[in-house]
Amino acid sequence: MANIVIVGTQWGDEGKGKIVDLLAEHADYVVRFQGGNNAGHTMVVAGEQFISHLVPSGILQGKTCFIGNGMVVDPEVLLEEIDYLQKKGIAVGPNKLRISERAHLIMPYHKAIDLAREQMKGAQKIGTTGRGIGPCYEDKVARRGLRFIDLLDQDEFQEKLKVNLEEKNFYLQNFLQSKPLDPMEIIQQYQKMAERLAPYVDNISVTLYDGIRTGRRVMFEGAQGTHLDIDHGTYPFVTSSNTVSGNAACGAGIGPKELNGILGIVKAYTTRVGSGPFVTELFDEIGDRIQKKGAEFGATTGRKRRCGWLDVVMLRNASRLNGLTGLVITKLDVLGGLETLKICTGYDYNGTRLSDFPNSLKVLAACKPIYETLPGWSEDISGIRSYKDLPESTRAYLQRIEVLTETPIDIISVGPGRDETMILKNPFTTK
Ligand code: IMP
Repeated sequence: MANIVIVGTQWGDEGKGKIVDLLAEHADYVVRFQGGNNAGHTMVVAGEQFISHLVPSGILQGKTCFIGNGMVVDPEVLLEEIDYLQKKGIAVGPNKLRISERAHLIMPYHKAIDLAREQMKGAQKIGTTGRGIGPCYEDKVARRGLRFIDLLDQDEFQEKLKVNLEEKNFYLQNFLQSKPLDPMEIIQQYQKMAERLAPYVDNISVTLYDGIRTGRRVMFEGAQGTHLDIDHGTYPFVTSSNTVSGNAACGAGIGPKELNGILGIVKAYTTRVGSGPFVTELFDEIGDRIQKKGAEFGATTGRKRRCGWLDVVMLRNASRLNGLTGLVITKLDVLGGLETLKICTGYDYNGTRLSDFPNSLKVLAACKPIYETLPGWSEDISGIRSYKDLPESTRAYLQRIEVLTETPIDIISVGPGRDETMILKNPFTTK
């Protein structure tokens, strides 16, 4: 298959960064199509850790990377990330990184509004990453957003900024009880950044189209996860973009017929950062153990992730919504040493069994997990490289996931390093 989309099936943090980095070897182009620096993709190469928030993970494989029109970009963070990667010896010049002219800019007022709003909401807060993601997407939809194409046209930029800031400052001061921002400071800061970023900015829809027509293979790197999708997730405890595979086409500016395979990344258990219902959440020592062993801290905010058992009601939902052609199971090694494992196969809602993920958040919050119990394994599987060498109970756990989700497992990851992986089917090299 030529072009592959990689998406998270749960609430993000499934380990997409490692898989994108690994499979990027077979791709020519790697594209991010939504989200911004709310994402944090962790990769470990030759024992060294890299975290990227905006630049697609394919950069470590030396691939040409694209920031799609569907993204919201904080230019300050992007420049810091370019510098960070360059310091580590990774080439991130304009020949390796292309930014869509249509991608939206996160402005200082987006961050200020995000933070002040969350603070005001108190216990009702969404638990956002505080990076200004939601307020930036709001402006995009309200048709007053500033894009990279505006950044390169200073007159346009200044005019739009001044109009926006008048309204934002009123809102910040009078509703959010926060400080107003100075337009001239923002103009100067963004002008400087515009000079550095200008060579990266491009009409990437055309570049991708031409590339695909001439046989380039493209990987689309999703951020967050299916249940954080603005339409299909646990609204309002979601991010502000469409995280499902269908948005790969829209957020990159290509036609959907170019998407050939869709891989869903599944962590072997479930985690969530931020607020919102979580049916299989564990509040006992098993949850603590998974949190510690899995080093479940957010790569962006450092927050402790909430942990729970694998939930196949969610996975079936993700398989349908994304049209998954295969699954990638990550962090399987973390479950080692547990006597028994549980998989949630349905929800008990006031005595009624639900097999489909409910749309009502009230219903979801009232659901209790219905579990199937499977034997665990005591062995450390992180050194295993072949499926047949996995303990029988590990294989049984994997087979049960395949049966329950009706989706084949293509890749199994047993550690953060590139080599700690079993590729059963490479989506790029098999039909
Ligand atoms: P926002 O995307 O910063 O607006 O945050 C909205 C919700 O999505 C919060 O619950 C965040 O914790 C969550 N979120 C955003 N990005 C990620 C991610 O990359 N991984 C996991 N959760 C995320």
